Amino acid sequence: MEQGANVVTELTADHREVEELFTLIQALSPGVERRKQLLDQAAIKLMRHTVAEELHLYPAVREHLPDGGSLADKKIQDHAQVEKLLTDLEHCPVGRPEFDRLVARLIFEVSEHVADEENLLFPMLQDACSPEVLNKLGDKVREAKETAPTGPRPSAIDAAPGNKSSVPGRLIDRARDFVSGRGRSPG
Ligand SMILES: [Fe+2]
Repeated sequence: MEQGANVVTELTADHREVEELFTLIQALSPGVERRKQLLDQAAIKLMRHTVAEELHLYPAVREHLPDGGSLADKKIQDHAQVEKLLTDLEHCPVGRPEFDRLVARLIFEVSEHVADEENLLFPMLQDACSPEVLNKLGDKVREAKETAPTGPRPSAIDAAPGNKSSVPGRLIDRARDFVSGRGRSPG
């Protein structure tokens, strides 16, 4: 049977995709509306990633790594930082200098998250877990990303006249509900 990517490969690929979107955002001039659309795409990817990590990666970190509990707690705090920035960006018009400052902070926070996981957490997990465990976690992470609520697609938001796009805010609320179990459909 064909095997999907293990958890580390899967989550690392997410990191690269978000970084590519950040690169595109940074290549555009301040005030260009397309930056907001790209940011919405990055927000959706980030929240799917966050949901998958909180539902499956961090429980595995707690279970398999020495001092995994405090490591997982720290990572969840970092996620809250990123969510706060995404929420602030939701309310910030793309032309304001504040938008660029918030984007720069978001890129910084995400780069810290990426470095932390890829240089520290993932190698520790690979040492501590069998390939079978890592593969099973990969399946669970993929499933969580597919079923996590991601809100309307950015293109649908763009099409709505007068809509100032609140994708990140609604997305974050729904993703949070999903992680806590409130947003998951019964059965
Ligand atoms: Fe991550």
